[in-house]
Amino acid sequence: MPESPHPATTHTRRIVLKSTAVAAAGATLVPAPAVAAAAAPTTAGDVAEVMEITLSVNGRKHAVTVEPRVTLLDALRERLALTGTKKGCDRGECGACTVLVDGERIKSCLTLAVMRQGSAITTVEGLADGDRLHPVQEAFIRRDAFQCGGCTSGQIMSAVACIREGHTGSDEEIRQWMSGNICRCACYQNIVAAVADAAREVRR
Ligand code: FES
Ligand code: FES
Repeated sequence: MPESPHPATTHTRRIVLKSTAVAAAGATLVPAPAVAAAAAPTTAGDVAEVMEITLSVNGRKHAVTVEPRVTLLDALRERLALTGTKKGCDRGECGACTVLVDGERIKSCLTLAVMRQGSAITTVEGLADGDRLHPVQEAFIRRDAFQCGGCTSGQIMSAVACIREGHTGSDEEIRQWMSGNICRCACYQNIVAAVADAAREVRR
């Protein structure tokens, strides 16, 4: 797929980390020992503070204790056991970790959990309506738009947003606006077909 700017790729770790202090203002600092075992490994110079925050994920509120440096991706996977969101590159390049935050797609490895309090977060686990899959999920299955599946949840979340954004006027437009999501299995043709199918379904 052609390379083009993706909304989520405009974030850098530098911006994210600079924003931490602002985001942390709304969180509660607690001593580290209480959660030391659950926290990520530390090195000698790290600040050993943790925060109690609330994340709203797939319509449910979750109390989570994290260090300020914990990404939303790690909070989802390691604190909330929502492992449908995948860690690929962990540096904003592959799109495997894409989730929706207040309806917008973001790469969850590029944002900190403490910055997302008060936002409505949607992961791939929150798309289906009971036993009924989301039209994008159905289209991916129907179009056989995956092989190993490593990129698939990110592709699906990005596709949901792409359709809502109205960027599905042509295959070329879909390719451009899905270009932040890499598929190492090169299922692009089927992914584009699935997104186009789902867009038609949603517009009906
Ligand atoms: S894991 Fe986030 S972009 Fe690759
Ligand atoms: S299906 Fe394997 S990386 Fe996309």
